[in-house]
Amino acid sequence: MFTATALPTSGNKRDVYASLAQQLSGLLDGEPDAIANAANMSALLYGLLPDLNWAGFYFLRGPELVLGPFQGKVACVRIPVGRGVCGTAVERKASVVVPDVHEFPGHIACDSASRSELVVPLIKHGRVLGVLDLDSPNPSRFDDADREGCESLVRIYLDASEFPGHGP
Ligand code: SME
Repeated sequence: MFTATALPTSGNKRDVYASLAQQLSGLLDGEPDAIANAANMSALLYGLLPDLNWAGFYFLRGPELVLGPFQGKVACVRIPVGRGVCGTAVERKASVVVPDVHEFPGHIACDSASRSELVVPLIKHGRVLGVLDLDSPNPSRFDDADREGCESLVRIYLDASEFPGHGP
């Protein structure tokens, strides 16, 4: 049985993400199912990272993102590419950090408590497969260290998981 370990409360965010990376690698070890892994990764992040009100995945289905496994309040199901923070990350093929969602044109509010957001695209073998989305009720919750840390967690997720029909 996997038991999550509390993250270091002293030290910097590098230590936090190093611990998360180690735990995530153990959690996903030997399991190639992309949906099961997304579900467990959402639960791990939501359970351990402080000040989140939503953590989860959207997967690209044709021209739009469709809701995947998540933790938090119910969310909008379909987001066209180029819309909202999630669709913008897909269009740019790059992570998007939004310190204040009220200042982001086209932000899609699933939970009115959300104040800041981090979206990391899932890119495997050059193809965008979806996004990891984290929301916080705190303004400016996410910085560059969170972006880098979450990008490394997404790489662990992508390396562990198979995406049938999306190449090797
Ligand atoms: N805020 C996102 C929508 C997804 S929810 O936050 C879960 C966006 O603007 O794309």
